[in-house]
Amino acid sequence: MGNRVSRRTVLIGAGVGAVALAGGGYLALRNLPAGTVEFVQPRVLESSNGSLKVKLSAGKVSKSVNGKNVTMIGYNGSVPGPTLKVKPGDVIEVSLTNNLSKPTNLHTHGLFVSPSGNSDNPFVHVMPGETFDYRFEIPTEQTEGTHWYHPHMHGEVASQVFGGMYGAVIVEDANTPSALDDRVLVISDSSFNDDGTLASPNMMQLMMGREGNFIFVNGQIQPRGEFTDGGRERWRIINACVARYLQLEVSGANTQLLGLDGRKLPTIGEAGSFILAPGNRADLLVNPNTDSVSLNYTTVAHPDSMGMGMMNGTSQTFENYPLFTLNKKPDNGKVQIIDYVLPTFPAEPDLRKSAVTGKRDMVLRMPMGMGGMSGGMAGQFTINGEAFDMNKINTVVAGNTVEEWTLVNKTTMQHPFHLHIWPMQIIAVGGVPVTDVRYQDVVTIPVNSTVTVRVNFRVHTGKTLYHCHILDHEDLGMMGVIGVATY
Ligand code: C2O
Ligand code: CU
Ligand code: CU
Repeated sequence: MGNRVSRRTVLIGAGVGAVALAGGGYLALRNLPAGTVEFVQPRVLESSNGSLKVKLSAGKVSKSVNGKNVTMIGYNGSVPGPTLKVKPGDVIEVSLTNNLSKPTNLHTHGLFVSPSGNSDNPFVHVMPGETFDYRFEIPTEQTEGTHWYHPHMHGEVASQVFGGMYGAVIVEDANTPSALDDRVLVISDSSFNDDGTLASPNMMQLMMGREGNFIFVNGQIQPRGEFTDGGRERWRIINACVARYLQLEVSGANTQLLGLDGRKLPTIGEAGSFILAPGNRADLLVNPNTDSVSLNYTTVAHPDSMGMGMMNGTSQTFENYPLFTLNKKPDNGKVQIIDYVLPTFPAEPDLRKSAVTGKRDMVLRMPMGMGGMSGGMAGQFTINGEAFDMNKINTVVAGNTVEEWTLVNKTTMQHPFHLHIWPMQIIAVGGVPVTDVRYQDVVTIPVNSTVTVRVNFRVHTGKTLYHCHILDHEDLGMMGVIGVATY
């Protein structure tokens, strides 16, 4: 079949395969001792009396990764940065100091806050050496859920996230205090050169979105820990990878999927195996039934992977790779299973019942084939034919209206579409209606297919972004500006 494969197919496939090779001297993942690192959670900074004041300084972080000293970038000297734990109605004040050599800024992915001024404003530039004071007012209607923060400096987002800049934001409902032990699981990936510096992507990796050779859980590789004494746990998983889709399954436990992207699912059921796109979060209820519980990752086959492995034989795929493992302590006769009754959640509004004031398509395109790449990639990653231009508003929406958007993927790879601030209700995938009410803030558009969503542009006004959450694609221009105004 080799010589009959079209150039485009070879190119796309090679992009996947090349990830493990490029950069020359990547540290090899395979021959490292697994499970010798202790499981840790990021430091938690919790609000009190309605307020959380935090200093975040973005800068270099020295770390040991499997015994090798590497230099990453992160917040307050750690990868991930601290977990911000708040309640509905709280105000978070973040004083962000940029100790990097490139500009940066901060985005609170998933928070229903204003996109303007010194709130979740992705147009802010914090230059090297500068400090910027953010203020995020979380409305009381923001229900409990798992969210995250990361930089949003166009052109630098993928590199900064790949470098280690991310952290969890947990909104805890004041009225339903958790009877469970929370476990925050920030999953990310990075690659390094032999000298321990962060690896830069080659052209293939930019095309496909860079995937790191190391997969971290809270900045650790395959850590081991102990399960909460006899109890259940609530796991809050964040896919902070630049481009990697995570197919996940918990082994050794009964596991229920409670929510996605910080919103409740209409029905709570067995989690089984589920996929998180870059940017997605999952909330799980984990009840161990063996002495060892792990979260296993399996590579998601690329939809257009025909050429994969032909250019090189070393593309790294994973099957049931334990991202971390927890041992359950012997109960010593104590019966400690917490009888956790799931709270009943208020139903999410069904926008199918709302009058739609606008319908529009969002058509995603990227360059194809050798021609597309050799011509340079600038301007070829587009939404509705336009690459990102910060001085333009691509989509103007009237506030307090419900719109229906058809997300159209005109490429041979899937893209995770993300809209800031306002969650999207998924109406149909590939033309097939979704029957229940589910909201996400990152929605995967399958290859050559469509997803129809509805969005209620309520409460907040201002200018913000929608984009592909494969952050290399975002940096290459697959992003648009939306302006929401009241008249
Ligand atoms: Cu998590 Cu605009 O992104
Ligand atoms: Cu976001
Ligand atoms: Cu994309």
